[in-house]
Amino acid sequence: MNKNVVILGSTGSIGVNAVKAVKNLGKGWRVLGLAANSNLKALAAQMREARPAYVSVFDYDAWKELKASAPRGVKVLPPGVEGLAEMASLSEADIVLSAVTGAVGFAPLLAAIRASKHIALANKEPMVMAGELLMQEAQRWQARILPVDSEPSAIFQCLAGVKPGQYDDAVSRVFLTASGGPFYARKGSLSGVTPAQALKHPRWSMGPKITVDSSTLMNKGLEAIEIKNLFSLPISKIEVLIHPQSVVHSGVEFKDGSVLAQLSNPDMRLPIQYALTWPDRARSLAEPLDFFKLARLDFARPDFRRFPCLELAFEAAKKGGIYPAVLNAANEVAVEKFIAGRLGFTGIPEIVERTLAACRGGAGRLTLGAAVEADGWARQKAADLSEIKKRKK
Ligand SMILES: NC(=O)c1ccc[n+]([C@@H]2O[C@H](COP(=O)([O-])OP(=O)(O)OC[C@H]3O[C@@H](n4cnc5c(N)ncnc54)[C@H](OP(=O)(O)O)[C@@H]3O)[C@@H](O)[C@H]2O)c1
Repeated sequence: MNKNVVILGSTGSIGVNAVKAVKNLGKGWRVLGLAANSNLKALAAQMREARPAYVSVFDYDAWKELKASAPRGVKVLPPGVEGLAEMASLSEADIVLSAVTGAVGFAPLLAAIRASKHIALANKEPMVMAGELLMQEAQRWQARILPVDSEPSAIFQCLAGVKPGQYDDAVSRVFLTASGGPFYARKGSLSGVTPAQALKHPRWSMGPKITVDSSTLMNKGLEAIEIKNLFSLPISKIEVLIHPQSVVHSGVEFKDGSVLAQLSNPDMRLPIQYALTWPDRARSLAEPLDFFKLARLDFARPDFRRFPCLELAFEAAKKGGIYPAVLNAANEVAVEKFIAGRLGFTGIPEIVERTLAACRGGAGRLTLGAAVEADGWARQKAADLSEIKKRKK
């Protein structure tokens, strides 16, 4: 039986590898739909190669061009979030892989859940905003959310023998590893860091937003919240370890003291493929690990003071309610401004902290609607705070 795969964010770093992974899986696997923001050139090349039945782009101008140029027989779904949500809930789709960046993935993820899909999820931001509720929704609609990101995937693999719902009982600690990004070993102030420096990751080649998040360690904070929600674990059980070689992708300590970890060369093609083939495994495009070539594996405690984004994320997770959604939205805005040269590197945690501080009464019971509303409020607040800061300079 064919497995029809829809890929949201197909032209990005994860998306391109996801298209390759489907091709690598070969017979029985097919790309059913591709969606991107505006990169028509990359999308056209993917259309020629993978021959999807459905395509869409978010950007309206790009969509008009796509509509005029799409090959016959390829259905162009609407632009904007409507097209993404329609793509995510196509009745012929067996698997929806979501690799768009940011909170824009919230509505399509919800659509895929409510269409009871097998979801391979790279887009962590919605899981930060309201992951606990999304997991409940997935249970209600018998959808399955499988992590694509290497660290949550590692934890998912380590938990294979434990029944979902019993993770908290079985696990005493989660070791969430982090490469540390480009500035971990750097001495002195980080205030002069430029976008070009932050966009150069020492281990992984990724999209701009996650690369900057890795350099501030916000990415690790977002992952910690994602993991807390995916596996229903208290944030206090999640321990971040700086591990510059990125070979141990994360691990779990069970209550008897036994530790399981997942290791491989740092190559996203492996966890992407596993999220597609689960519970089966297939030969992947990743180079096998050679233990004899591994000189050493290092681990260190993260420096919460030098990388305040990590602390802010853990604090937001502890408070709960809308705080994680506010953290995520403020960070998205601050990172965008930093990449555009409108905010300094150390301005990122500052804007996130000040947006969180301006948020009142947000620790109550969360609803999906409240998370989306908080996202909108925090975007506006963070944008205003960044502008005031820029004018003061
Ligand atoms: N890269 C990694 O190794 C990695 C690892 C773990 C998790 N993740 C997560 O995976 C997600 C994607 O990361 P990435 O590094 O692949 O990002 P990326 O290279 O920047 O790619 C983002 C993709 O999403 C599309 N996109 C952006 N905004 C969109 C919108 N409004 N509507 C539709 N499509 C949109 C882009 O289309 P255009 O090309 O047209 O702009 C592109 O295809 C993020 O949530 C990230 O945290 C990534």
